[in-house]
Amino acid sequence: MNGLEILAPAKINLFLELIGKREDGFHELETVMCCVNLYDRLQFGCRSDSEVLLRESGRVQGMPDSKDNLIVKALQILQAKTGCSKGMEIEIEKGIPIQAGLGGASSDAAAALIAGNRLWELGLDSAQLLELSAELGSDVPFFIHGGMAICRGRGEIVSPIESVNRFPILIAKPPIGLSTPEVFSHCSIAETTQSCSPLLEALQMGNAKAIGESMINRLEEAAAKVSDWGIRMKEAFQKADCMAHQLSGSGSCYFGLFGNSKLLRKASAKLLQREPELALYYCQSIGRLAHQY
Ligand code: C5P
Repeated sequence: MNGLEILAPAKINLFLELIGKREDGFHELETVMCCVNLYDRLQFGCRSDSEVLLRESGRVQGMPDSKDNLIVKALQILQAKTGCSKGMEIEIEKGIPIQAGLGGASSDAAAALIAGNRLWELGLDSAQLLELSAELGSDVPFFIHGGMAICRGRGEIVSPIESVNRFPILIAKPPIGLSTPEVFSHCSIAETTQSCSPLLEALQMGNAKAIGESMINRLEEAAAKVSDWGIRMKEAFQKADCMAHQLSGSGSCYFGLFGNSKLLRKASAKLLQREPELALYYCQSIGRLAHQY
């Protein structure tokens, strides 16, 4: 086999609490992330020389150049750590919005590690891939696992959550993106931090009201210092009768959970009436995909 196509999924943060600031500049956190069926499509093909070449089908505004792209970095790290002298050609079709808090770049990086390991026949196990993935970014280990998980540390300590209900999700993308370091630079730690346990119970029961009451994203206030879109979307989701909604990650996307897809469609019409500049994505939570560990 010398080619592989991977659909790299987006994520949302159902819970994100900041526990403290670390000496390395990162924040200690507890977050519950969940993959959704919104994807980047990546096509990998082996090269006989050692080049790693990334091509985009269609220009994506805001996507880093090849040399700064996490996909290229992921494959170069694999080459460096294993001494592999083969190269890779990657074609990417972006479906996940950029600077959106949906983890697109991290998901692409995880897909690249998995593809490199398979196509170059490196034989790394999941623990070795997880270790490498943490060097690329705090959210990359989560995407090696996929599905739903609690992530701790700076995000790299992943505990998968099994057998939760699937639910319809409406993701709203405002006409701006937000920079993760900029949002984190405005954040503060709460005096009393919340635990994700009530959310996990509510998810198991599939109770939308209880889920809404136990969701939190501690980065919302920080994101509001950078852009007023978070507050605008919160008001719009409230007015659209959505019971469980918040910012995803460091934004700029905002999402709501619904009991069924009819309620989701009704809310989306109301949202667009109030905020016509929003781009809406109809999604669902998903389990682990075939390529994930
Ligand atoms: O790990 P990643 O490269 O995705 O992080 C981007 C930026 O987000 C970091 O440089 C840091 O400013 C911030 N961050 C943080 N604490 C985390 C994760 C990210 O402060 N746990």
